[in-house]
Amino acid sequence: MRFDVVSIFPEYLAPLELSLIGKARTDGLLELIVHDLRSYTQDRHRTVDDTPYGGGAGMVMKPEPWAQALGDIAAASPATAAGRKPVLIVPSPAGEVFTQALAYELAEEEHLAFACGRYEGIDERVLEWAQEQYAVRPVSLGDYVLNGGEVAVLAMVEAIGRLIPGVVGNPDSLIEESHSDGLLEYPVYTKPSSWRDRDVPDVLLSGNHGKIAKFRREHQLRRTAARRPDLLDKLDVSNFSKTERNV
Ligand code: ADE
Repeated sequence: MRFDVVSIFPEYLAPLELSLIGKARTDGLLELIVHDLRSYTQDRHRTVDDTPYGGGAGMVMKPEPWAQALGDIAAASPATAAGRKPVLIVPSPAGEVFTQALAYELAEEEHLAFACGRYEGIDERVLEWAQEQYAVRPVSLGDYVLNGGEVAVLAMVEAIGRLIPGVVGNPDSLIEESHSDGLLEYPVYTKPSSWRDRDVPDVLLSGNHGKIAKFRREHQLRRTAARRPDLLDKLDVSNFSKTERNV
């Protein structure tokens, strides 16, 4: 799978050289290219922003460098070559919310490009124009405002990249984690079995796999009800057993 990231702070993306994503890159499971937006400018000052039409605080990113960068990336895209559109993700607090379901959907794509806006954002015409070559998706990490798209890209590339087969060593870890079934994950424990007067729940030491599964499921439900009741509202309770409905 291929990822391209355009930013005025390419160094911000350096953590994607580390850990599982870094290893997936060296193993050839994913290709990730970071582009400096300023290298697509034409003027001596390498200008990427200007004042907003209509007035107001802050600066807006100019369309020309973005068109140059995104045009080059689309032209080199394996999706374009196959007659399809790569996906252009534009991190923005005004986008659809990034979820595990969206991460799974995007992990099926062959090519994702990310346009990291800074200041007050990118001139809106860039997003309209880019639709000729890309499936454009403004995506938000959540209802809060970051200084730019880079931190959001770090989070999204990690969440999407780890779903690519082979990136996470044990694929079972993807099945039992938070959000994979719409619930938060159950609490986990390791040795020692007793620590600072706190014991690991007996059932986990019992070796009875049926009881362990029941304990974990019950705790998933309790934890989700306590911390994220909104998630329970989205689930079809007809799939729940009678005991589960009463948790
Ligand atoms: N850029 C600024 N705020 C953001 C957010 N919440 N999500 C994604 N990109 C952003």
